[in-house]
Amino acid sequence: MTQDYIVSDIKLAEAGERRIEWIRGRMPVLNMIRERYEREKPLDNVKIMACLHVTVETANLILTLRAGGADIALTAANPLSTQDDIAAALADSGINVYAFRGETEEEYYNCINEALKIEPTVVLDDGGDGITAVHAAGKASSVKGACEETTTGVIRHRARARDKKLGFPVIAVNDAETKMMFDNRYGTGQSTLHGVMNATNILLAGRVVVVAGYGWCGRGVALRAKGLGSSVVVVETNPRKALEAVMDGYRVMPMREAAKIGDLFITATGDISVIRGEHFKLMKDGAILANTGHFNVEINVNELEQLAVDKRQIKDNVVEYRLEDGRKLYLLSEGRIVNLTAAYGHPPEVMDMSFSNQALCVRYIIENHERLNNEVYPVPAAIDDEVARLKLKSMGIEIEELTPEQREYLESWELGT
Ligand SMILES: NC(=O)c1ccc[n+]([C@@H]2O[C@H](COP(=O)([O-])OP(=O)(O)OC[C@H]3O[C@@H](n4cnc5c(N)ncnc54)[C@H](O)[C@@H]3O)[C@@H](O)[C@H]2O)c1
Repeated sequence: MTQDYIVSDIKLAEAGERRIEWIRGRMPVLNMIRERYEREKPLDNVKIMACLHVTVETANLILTLRAGGADIALTAANPLSTQDDIAAALADSGINVYAFRGETEEEYYNCINEALKIEPTVVLDDGGDGITAVHAAGKASSVKGACEETTTGVIRHRARARDKKLGFPVIAVNDAETKMMFDNRYGTGQSTLHGVMNATNILLAGRVVVVAGYGWCGRGVALRAKGLGSSVVVVETNPRKALEAVMDGYRVMPMREAAKIGDLFITATGDISVIRGEHFKLMKDGAILANTGHFNVEINVNELEQLAVDKRQIKDNVVEYRLEDGRKLYLLSEGRIVNLTAAYGHPPEVMDMSFSNQALCVRYIIENHERLNNEVYPVPAAIDDEVARLKLKSMGIEIEELTPEQREYLESWELGT
């Protein structure tokens, strides 16, 4: 495939290159893998279609895979999350990039279809749209395997595998401990609040922040909101997670109660219509609504549009909806993933681990695909451990080692008091 791209403005390349340089120093594990890949070229002849948020951290992953010998077509995982300078820099460096910020849904899918022309042998996905497109285009049989970056995508691929409709193995990169515990929790926690603050500049201290979902992302958002002085309310459907939230010190209640008291609502569930018409009707004047789940389905924007008598753009990423009784509600980023639309997404330090898992799993697929079935697999523990070990090494932190006696004790059942 000769190089091809669709980006917003190729002249932004230089600015993008400077930012790529800036984060490279913050992704030491991926850098170590890149050096290894440059020497060993484990991805020669591999054609990768990557459907990922086109951010500066993603650029470092793409350049690592290319250093390993892969040919890559990159397209966005969300119409609003592309950083145009990064897309331009990657296109300028010879990568096939099809992504620009503010795509219509039609343009978004057209870009995915352009990327499909690479005839992928490996797919990297974030949310499942890439893998869905490969199947729809009848190209699954030439794919050796795929990696999935986020919870929502893993759920979709497991459902496809359950219905025997998955055409190749998928590695659930999201579920690696070195991904989920850090990226979903600390990355989403910090960057989601950054997105809200960027869009609104509100003071979070003293505000009631309602967090829907107390999974890895919700925990991170709640923790950081609490740290900024907010009074956090958690809405959960899972009794174990709800109990955890109670014991972590948060108020827990159904959305119909939380709706009446919240100043800021943040959804992090991966579920549909978590905040809907019946809740908008109960909200305080001035309430702010944001979503950090993968798709723009968590806040029911259609029902908000129907209830509103007037709508106007206040500033970038903030739309005001006026309801019949005069109350105003503020929706951030059209209900799309707020940390990537109103801020930069996750910091490079956590993406270092997520994308190191991706880079190592691509090699794992190439070397092991013949013995894998068309199922969703966890990241091999050896890869998860290697990422953690390299991250600690890069931080200069040494950890305790088991003595032979301790190892034997921990593996035995005979020894008691
Ligand atoms: N913003 C980001 O950068 C980012 C990063 C990682 C993951 N994600 C996305 O965020 C979402 C959540 O991911 P996660 O890893 O925290 O998932 P998770 O499965 O760990 O947590 C989701 C939680 O939401 C709860 N839930 C489901 N429906 C609910 C409802 N109607 N009301 C209240 N709670 C409900 C579930 O019980 C679960 O505890 C997914 O869509 C994921 O793809 C976003």
